[in-house]
Amino acid sequence: MSASSVQRCESCGSTIGELETASACPKCGGLLELEHSFSDTAETLRAAFWARRIASQGPERSGVWRYRELVLPSADDDSIVSHPEGNTPLVGRPSVSAWAGVEQLLMKHEGHNPTGSFKDRGMTVAMTQAKRTGARAVACASTGNTSASLAAYAAQGELPALVFVPVGQVALGKLTQTLAYGAKTLVVRGNFDACLALARDASRSLEIQLLNSINPFRIEGQKSIVLELLDQLDWSAPDWIALPAGNLGNTSAFGKALREAHALGLIDRMPRLAAIQAAGASPFAQSFREHFARRIHVDPDTMATAIRIGAPASWDRAIRAIRETNGVVTSVTDAEILEAKAVIDASGVGCEPASAASVAGVAQLRRDGVIRPSDRVVAVLTGHLLKDPGALVKYHQETEPQPPRANRPVEINANVDEVRRVLGEP
Ligand code: F0G
Repeated sequence: MSASSVQRCESCGSTIGELETASACPKCGGLLELEHSFSDTAETLRAAFWARRIASQGPERSGVWRYRELVLPSADDDSIVSHPEGNTPLVGRPSVSAWAGVEQLLMKHEGHNPTGSFKDRGMTVAMTQAKRTGARAVACASTGNTSASLAAYAAQGELPALVFVPVGQVALGKLTQTLAYGAKTLVVRGNFDACLALARDASRSLEIQLLNSINPFRIEGQKSIVLELLDQLDWSAPDWIALPAGNLGNTSAFGKALREAHALGLIDRMPRLAAIQAAGASPFAQSFREHFARRIHVDPDTMATAIRIGAPASWDRAIRAIRETNGVVTSVTDAEILEAKAVIDASGVGCEPASAASVAGVAQLRRDGVIRPSDRVVAVLTGHLLKDPGALVKYHQETEPQPPRANRPVEINANVDEVRRVLGEP
């Protein structure tokens, strides 16, 4: 097993040790990235990953730590804070494929993680590292899912947790989870971008470890979404992987996972990434249209609150992910997101609004001829249906005129004739 890793600055290239704690490069302030020295062959790795599928105890039950050679090779079993997480299903539904116009469309459902979103995959690694380096407390800014995940893993790791969330912009399921798991929750008068700036300042001055996705250990854990889906496809790379994009941590993680999997020979060709933003929060999609000539900030607005972000932090590394995979970035309207979500929900799969952006994006790219009908596509559903009950109540019960796929409840008196009447039976 390979053991040595360093943290390398993505801007100036300088390195610090794996166990040093820094929220950015001490020399230039750039973002740090983990660099592992791999010593295993693709065959050895595939065999090890396969054998761990039946683990019944220990960290290798986790769909993150099963890929530990690529995630954090030096972590001992005893130091790992794992729920466990991962092991999420890859599912296909004919109604969703038909709606998107892509027959071979699969959905990787990250809502099946313990706190209901993909964030748990990054959090198990970041919390493990926080414990290994003697953190006294942990913090994050969040649109809701990261805070729920941080709160749960901090509870398990027995560390105090501090979260910064934008007032009035966090879905009910996420806020209540965060409170229930016991994090000190600061509701900030400002948007997510203001929360992240504050969390960065506060963690620096209070010496609290920041576990947002600028933390390179989060990225290592989130790579396992891609590794696990490739494993589920027997390492036969799909043509496309589509994902919703906000702060761009996940886009960066997907790019790094694909780069490493390809370099190691786990896959023999690169899938193309399709990063999908909400139209009202789409600085990265706008910049893509200008060949990334400039870094764009916007004042974000979308009902997909998880990705309501105007100044994404992982900008440069996400550009690298798009370029190295010959990827694309696009945006979809809230109406398109809501329609895709209604289709995914009615297929029995279900997801939160931001997650449906991936499938809405696939449908749009298919209509534009970028994705071909015969392409094999995996769309990542990043969060669970129940994360945002408010969006469901609004869509199904309140919106006027009634959206085409709304399923209104019908109130009746307690007699069979009324049931018959509602069903239109004689
Ligand atoms: N989907 C969901 C459900 C999310 O919660 C997020 C991000 C994303 C997609 C986008 O991922 O930021 O890595 O590009 N949520 C963060 C949070 C910002 O605080 O929970 P990204």
